[in-house]
Amino acid sequence: MEVLFCTSEAFPLVKTGGLGDVCGSLPRALHELGNDVRLILPAYPEVMERAGKLTAVTSLTLTGASEPVEILLGQLPGSEVGLYLVNSPEHFRRPGNPYLQKDGSDWPDNAERFALFARAIVALALGQADTGWKPELVHCNDWQTGLVPALLSEHEARPATLFSIHNLSYQGLFPAATFTALELPDTLWSIDGLEFNNMLCFLKGGIANADWVTTVSPSYAEEICTSEFGYGLEGLLQYRSANLTGILNGMDKQTWNPGSDPHIERGYDVHSLQHKVVNKFALQREQGLPVGSQPLLLGHIGRLVEQKGVDLILDSLDALFQHPIQMVILGSGDHELEQRLMDAADRYPEQLAVHIGYDEQLAHRIEAGADCLLIPSRYEPCGLNQMYSMAYGTIPIAHRTGGLADSIVDLDKQSERDYTATGFIFDEDSPQAILKTCLRALTHFQTRRIDWWKLVITGMKKDFSWSKSAAQYLELYQRVCNNTQTQASIAADSEHKTMPSQAVSV
Ligand code: ADP
Ligand code: GLC
Repeated sequence: MEVLFCTSEAFPLVKTGGLGDVCGSLPRALHELGNDVRLILPAYPEVMERAGKLTAVTSLTLTGASEPVEILLGQLPGSEVGLYLVNSPEHFRRPGNPYLQKDGSDWPDNAERFALFARAIVALALGQADTGWKPELVHCNDWQTGLVPALLSEHEARPATLFSIHNLSYQGLFPAATFTALELPDTLWSIDGLEFNNMLCFLKGGIANADWVTTVSPSYAEEICTSEFGYGLEGLLQYRSANLTGILNGMDKQTWNPGSDPHIERGYDVHSLQHKVVNKFALQREQGLPVGSQPLLLGHIGRLVEQKGVDLILDSLDALFQHPIQMVILGSGDHELEQRLMDAADRYPEQLAVHIGYDEQLAHRIEAGADCLLIPSRYEPCGLNQMYSMAYGTIPIAHRTGGLADSIVDLDKQSERDYTATGFIFDEDSPQAILKTCLRALTHFQTRRIDWWKLVITGMKKDFSWSKSAAQYLELYQRVCNNTQTQASIAADSEHKTMPSQAVSV
């Protein structure tokens, strides 16, 4: 199949979180299944630096751009996946985070930037940008590409569209006046289009207009249809539920492999688990914590936002640190949370190390060195850290929600007996539940060493590779294309009947 895969980030070109990981590895897995999948990304400076050889395909005159917009073609590094870049310097040539300014606030012209991106995608999708290539299906991801299915719905002869929700709480919401300023077609300003509580909602454009909607785990697909997790879009999602599927993300086993990881102190696998502790000591040393195998070393990696529940960790620290527990936290985001974490590290220098910032290599060293990874997310569409941690023999301690619930098996009598347990799960997102579950893990760690290794090994043997999920996407792509073709031919048929003199192209 020919698939245009649209995203605002893809590892190793640009990444702010799991979206980058998924969009860097799913297209590769689809390519390995024999498909011509091409990525399209904005040409941010770091992307231009890392992309390697690029050739100009065309130059487009697009609404919202004062200069012609160049479309470049290359390859996703380390793969044969085609890569289109939308080169509009006035929109994308800015240093740092793709969405945020240095002070952490949104770029004030994000609506204009991603509307321009969407218009370039539409041109490519309709075969107007690269005359040598036209996709059968356009796969869009998150709000930054939400306008694409909406704009394409205005065309009869168009490819099929699939929209993936990675996180429903990031909606791309802008004032109603932005809709007019962006010169979007009037027909799209409706409750079935882009209007949401009298605001312009990019995400809704994808959910309401795509031929099919997916999200990144089966549990999250159910959760978003409820008022607790639906962020006001639950009604629309219920309405679309016949065309809504949850597919659990996979993980990139090349990048996240303790046997060949260049960032960790000592490589290991299930047969050489004795080397894992070398990574624990190295992490303790590097982070200025007392070195030893006795304390239970917890890691936490993530964006410092409400979703991830770091405030719940902070509220549990005083009680947690009454016990032989150490913690290394890596994250950046909310400035208040950053400050609270640094204050806590000052209070507990022997037990807590905090690293504020984004550090890909340290993330690998934490996955390898920690005994457990603490993931108390209030909600988690999928979550990748728990998969990485299991691959590294680092046991997840997590809240039972979304993809965490779908990928971790809680240790109980049954799962212990049948060797399926891979972690410790709690049901309530509270500091008390975190404390209780960490102490459950500590007891296991201290008193049942053989059973601990059983947990470690079961997790390491779990198969979270992309091939299974990519096959599910492919099946869905084929189904959606067949449906779209059938609908298009019905539409063409009826048009043919009413307008016999017109040539119909589908
Ligand atoms: P989300 O996409 O909601 O941030 P995921 O668990 O799906 O959550 O993915 C997060 C990804 O981002 C992981 O690869 C994780 O290692 C990485 N990550 C998050 N914060 C940091 C950080 N401060 N430094 C390095 N990597 C980080
Ligand atoms: C989002 C979600 C995360 C998911 C990632 C990739 O950022 O918060 O749970 O793993 O997207 O799909």
